[in-house]
Amino acid sequence: MCPAIPGSVSIFTPYLQSPWAHSRTARNLKFHPLALRRAIDNEPSLARVAAHFRISLCTGKEKVFAECDTWELLNLTPDEVVSLTTRICETFGLSMPALQAILNNYLVQTTGKNDLEKYFGIEQPPQYLCPRTTHYSWSKGTGELCIPVSRPLETKVHPVSEAITGIGSKNMIRVPVDEQARIDCQALDTLLAEYVKHRRAVYAIVVIMGTTEHGSVDPLSKILALRQKYQQHGLSFLIHADAAWGGYFASMLVPNPDLTGSESHLDDPTLFVNAHTINELRHLRHADSVTLDPHKSGYTPFPAGALCYQDGRLRYMVTWNSPVIGFEDESLKMGVYGIEGRYVPVVYDTPRLLSADVSFSSANQVQHL
Ligand SMILES: Cc1ncc(COP(=O)(O)O)c(C=O)c1O
Repeated sequence: MCPAIPGSVSIFTPYLQSPWAHSRTARNLKFHPLALRRAIDNEPSLARVAAHFRISLCTGKEKVFAECDTWELLNLTPDEVVSLTTRICETFGLSMPALQAILNNYLVQTTGKNDLEKYFGIEQPPQYLCPRTTHYSWSKGTGELCIPVSRPLETKVHPVSEAITGIGSKNMIRVPVDEQARIDCQALDTLLAEYVKHRRAVYAIVVIMGTTEHGSVDPLSKILALRQKYQQHGLSFLIHADAAWGGYFASMLVPNPDLTGSESHLDDPTLFVNAHTINELRHLRHADSVTLDPHKSGYTPFPAGALCYQDGRLRYMVTWNSPVIGFEDESLKMGVYGIEGRYVPVVYDTPRLLSADVSFSSANQVQHL
């Protein structure tokens, strides 16, 4: 976890909201630099910003924002995107509410994705990658389409109509898995090389930490390394871990300060998770966001899902409120980016009520790994 920028957790009802919330975050983040560029092109009050504002590309190279092409803007790192408006305000002495008011006219949530794509001449919309083992709820959020890896960029008309976020069913690509039902990194590598070659942007890659049918855990560590590799080629995307089912086991890897040492040997986490799983769960802290469902392996007797962002500013991508305007009490904002917050006490209390030795008392456990 980045110490200066705390993460955040949105708790909500499950059934669709996690995929929906994540794909919406990914969509809004991807188009945010384009919305800003369009505002700068069209707003005389931002002329100084156009001439002087410098940013870092995902390759590490620095460039004047207004001189970046569409491909470069679609591939800024998440860190860079979430810091853009604050840096503009600080550098050019603008007030955040004023900038936000201008920007609101250009955001993807205002104009719609098609309008932005048309303005920037994007003929191939970005795609969202999930393994073939993905839980079916993801297709409700974005739609789905199976593509053979030999023809990775092929698109077909899919019977499912355009799904909730407007990403479109044909832009959700299922990545092949290996014999252990884990993402096939070789196939993913080939696929990502094609995206670079065809200059097609990628919203995000979803990894599953405990697939519903097989209990398999995707090689998150390798996928983080693949992202580093492709950022050097100019391609950047979010990495989301769907730890709805397996995330709870991460809490078993954290020393529980309440243990006395005389507990049963059955508390040993290696009885439940193998070395591969332990290693991958320890990489959860490097994912941009993590879904946790305490009502699954955490036994919470009430539907309760959490979408945890590593960088808490990512949640501003799905709110209509400016990060600087609003309630002083952060907790009051819960409903702005999620839907509901009333499940939190149930999530906190369940391990205590069950007298569980594991210390999963909050989704924040992920950051202590
Ligand atoms: C890996 C995984 N992701 C997401 C979900 C969706 O969970 P829910 O419908 O409870 O939100 C499930 C449900 O079984 C799952 O196993």
